[in-house]
Amino acid sequence: MTQYVVPYAGVSNPLGADEINAVTDALTRDTLAMGPLGREFERRFADLLGARHAQATSSCTTALFLAAQVLELGPGDEVITTPQTFWVTTWPLQARGCTIRFADIDPDSLNLDPDSVEALVTPRTKSIWVVHHGGRAVDLDPIMAIATKYGLSVVEDCAHAPGATYKGRRVGTIGDIGCFSFHSLKNMTTGEGGAFVTNDDAYAEKARELGTIHTWGALVERDSDRIGPYRQPAYYRDPHVRSAFSKSYRDDRYLIGNNYRMSEISAALGLAQLAKLDQLNARRQEIARRLDDGLTGVPGITLQRARPEAPSVYHLYTIFYDAAVVGAPKDDFIKLLEQVEGIEIVLRYFPIHLLPEFRALGHRFGECPVAEKVYFEQQIQLPIYTHLTEDQINHLITGVRRTADTLSGKKP
Ligand SMILES: Cc1ncc(COP(=O)(O)O)c(C=O)c1O
Repeated sequence: MTQYVVPYAGVSNPLGADEINAVTDALTRDTLAMGPLGREFERRFADLLGARHAQATSSCTTALFLAAQVLELGPGDEVITTPQTFWVTTWPLQARGCTIRFADIDPDSLNLDPDSVEALVTPRTKSIWVVHHGGRAVDLDPIMAIATKYGLSVVEDCAHAPGATYKGRRVGTIGDIGCFSFHSLKNMTTGEGGAFVTNDDAYAEKARELGTIHTWGALVERDSDRIGPYRQPAYYRDPHVRSAFSKSYRDDRYLIGNNYRMSEISAALGLAQLAKLDQLNARRQEIARRLDDGLTGVPGITLQRARPEAPSVYHLYTIFYDAAVVGAPKDDFIKLLEQVEGIEIVLRYFPIHLLPEFRALGHRFGECPVAEKVYFEQQIQLPIYTHLTEDQINHLITGVRRTADTLSGKKP
């Protein structure tokens, strides 16, 4: 296995005494599931965001599944989203038979381009799913204006952006629903974990039921107190049994919940990390500033533009490569970064409309020309995490500069 000087990532944050003590304490408690730590984590996360409701989940994936179910998106419904994301953003929509329409992106922020979104709206469009790529907020004002104009819901995939702001408001609270990830690689972690966030009381109530093996719909009590030859058992009042056996459904229009819950152990870890989230994000911003300073002026390398209204929390650090200036294709540049400089490169993300699942549905190259060009020719993500050392930060700068020089023939 290659020993990288700068690996792409380990656990994204240094975990220390705070996290270890919190988890150890959780392990001594009466319950490891559905207990007070989960509730406390939800309260504090909602408070930090300024949201009315937060529900802890087992991942961002399950929060997104919950979002699709709460909004009752299904066959025939069109959802507009970005191709520049991890494929799970669209997973719940595919699972529910929705039609996915890919809008193109802004070539600098790598976020959805609002003009491209509006062009895709049809009478069947129900929802817009945005992704705050790399920790920088999507330009939400025009997206929300489109949503209002056409009566669409907006789901924010905030997997990269816990704590990030758009015009001073925390992301995840601006659309109808925000979904967060606390996977080990993310800006704050619970190992695996996520959150479903909303300001809408009805969505929150529905998500609470559906996220924990309940049903939702038009339920009618059985009028008989007998089941076959038996009387209703004494434990009829047990919510478990009650939900499973003691209701009949007026019609078939009910929704079945799932277990999307976070454990108490994860919630304990989450509470410790949450207390430091702004600090962890500030450290990423400081590293990004160092990289920006060190990489300014490298011929053939462009940096992302600063956007004061949407400061990034740098889950990813992106640079753009210009093969015409350097004189070699992007792949050659990446190969040297990896093999000569020992910098591990993982490109985030392959444009998902070109995945086999989507090509099989008729999506094709040429559908999102900006996303395609930027991915194949320009974008490169350098490793970024809070415990990068000074030597590693300096090595990222030197490595990129040296590689550009080597390929452009300035040095052998
Ligand atoms: C944009 C985006 N959405 C959703 C997810 C899924 O997060 P999780 O691993 O918590 O399910 C990821 C994971 O990397 C992601 O990058």
